[in-house]
Amino acid sequence: MGEDAGGGHEFVVVANRLPVDEVTGEDGQHRWERSPGGLVSALQPVVRQRGGAWVGWTGSAGEAPEPFDIDGMRLRPVPLSAEEVDQYYEGQSNATIWPLFHDLVEQPTHRRDWRRAYEAVNRRFARAAADAAAPDATVWVHDYQLLLVPAMLRELRPDVRIGFFLHIPFPPVELFMQLPRRRELLTGLLGADLVGFQGALAAQNFLRLTRLLAGLEPKDDRVEVDGRTVVARAFPISIDVAEVDQLTADPAVQERARQLRTELGGDRRLLLGVDRLDYTKGIEQRLEAYHDLLADGEISNDDVVLVQVATPSRQRITQYQQLRERVEREVGRTTGEFGDVGRAPVHYLFQSFGRAELVALYLAADVMLVTPLRDGMNLVAKEFVAARRDEQGALVLSEFTGAAAELDDAFLVNAHDTDDIKRGILEALNADPQDLAARMRHMREQVRAHDIDYWARDFLGVLGVPGAPPEAREAA
Ligand code: ADP
Ligand code: F6P
Repeated sequence: MGEDAGGGHEFVVVANRLPVDEVTGEDGQHRWERSPGGLVSALQPVVRQRGGAWVGWTGSAGEAPEPFDIDGMRLRPVPLSAEEVDQYYEGQSNATIWPLFHDLVEQPTHRRDWRRAYEAVNRRFARAAADAAAPDATVWVHDYQLLLVPAMLRELRPDVRIGFFLHIPFPPVELFMQLPRRRELLTGLLGADLVGFQGALAAQNFLRLTRLLAGLEPKDDRVEVDGRTVVARAFPISIDVAEVDQLTADPAVQERARQLRTELGGDRRLLLGVDRLDYTKGIEQRLEAYHDLLADGEISNDDVVLVQVATPSRQRITQYQQLRERVEREVGRTTGEFGDVGRAPVHYLFQSFGRAELVALYLAADVMLVTPLRDGMNLVAKEFVAARRDEQGALVLSEFTGAAAELDDAFLVNAHDTDDIKRGILEALNADPQDLAARMRHMREQVRAHDIDYWARDFLGVLGVPGAPPEAREAA
């Protein structure tokens, strides 16, 4: 794959965000920083390896820079005005579709002007993808911000092969039916040749909808639309295991992990949470469970410490601002009630970190807490497992993550039930080391056998991309 003589790309990824964000430093200088979230973590190695183009937004409002190269990828920025950031990104994408697709963890807002902006921006992304693609190219569209793009792109470029992958859950039919203009959204997705989901249930929800909303007749994992076949299947996404391996083998990272443990209080057991500060991640419930364990005397500030990393995310949206206030209040309450001078029960870090620092944290932790109320996959859980080549450490994992289907050797909990989170934490803390090692070994085998490269080759193989691997599933 690569770029043909005419400047068109044979492989084009289209996602709301580019893998880097444009940020302005305190000195007024512009620079590029890695964008937040699992989509970028997962796709970056895929595009880098295939030498493709990435169509997306820079994270800032206003004019877009000219296409440029970074890290072996050709980036083609799509501009968004300040009003579009407000209506398409913060509005329709993150205050309507995001909460509705996450089982109404928060109430979605429905607004006509947001829907109009969403359609206009999706059209712009489709045009940018059409411009970037060589004849008969493969275009891979990603996530809930761009649900209309596959059909728009097909209209502009019937020659290209179109894949779509949804990184977040696809809701049950009765929730999807609450969306205004629901039929257009479904028709948008049906423009793809292959629609991929994180789990089998999501693919089934989608196929049921095609019957209910579009009067189609799905059979097994496919449905005929205007004489074309659209396939819908599960492709659980994964992580760049080789990158994590490289970091865990680095003596500087290992030294940093030891240093972190010493600084946090030597022999205290370390509990760790790493999430974007998002209401789907169950951070409040986790903090409440930890508070209650301290209050019940089941654990003590002398024996345990919690590090909660909360990456800043979508900070202009009211629900995210309110969540931040609630989380910080809960951290303050626990610290106030159970802290000692020089020894805090919670270290709360509202910051982004480099990959090396994150991996050092994974290595230092005794118990990793991943307790979303709903999550399409959750890559943090897989990163933690991949980092633990020492086969130590326990994973407490919410049943409501896609990752739970693969990592069933974790301590699975109902993240909506604080008592059950408490039970999971205690079981993890008190587990026999041999049991922990056996669990970790099984989980590591699963993640290592199904890394991000496996995921991409599986999806592209089913999409029928030339050069697809022999072990990929049967072509669409
Ligand atoms: P989501 O896509 O909802 O953000 P995931 O758990 O699937 O959730 O992916 C999050 C990704 O972001 C992971 O690759 C994780 O390593 C990375 N990440 C999370 N927190 C931070 C942070 N504070 N600094 C840098 N990267 C982070
Ligand atoms: O996969 C979930 C996701 O929403 C991605 O689409 C997105 O890139 C990431 O999380 C981070 O969110 P945002 O781009 O809104 O900062």
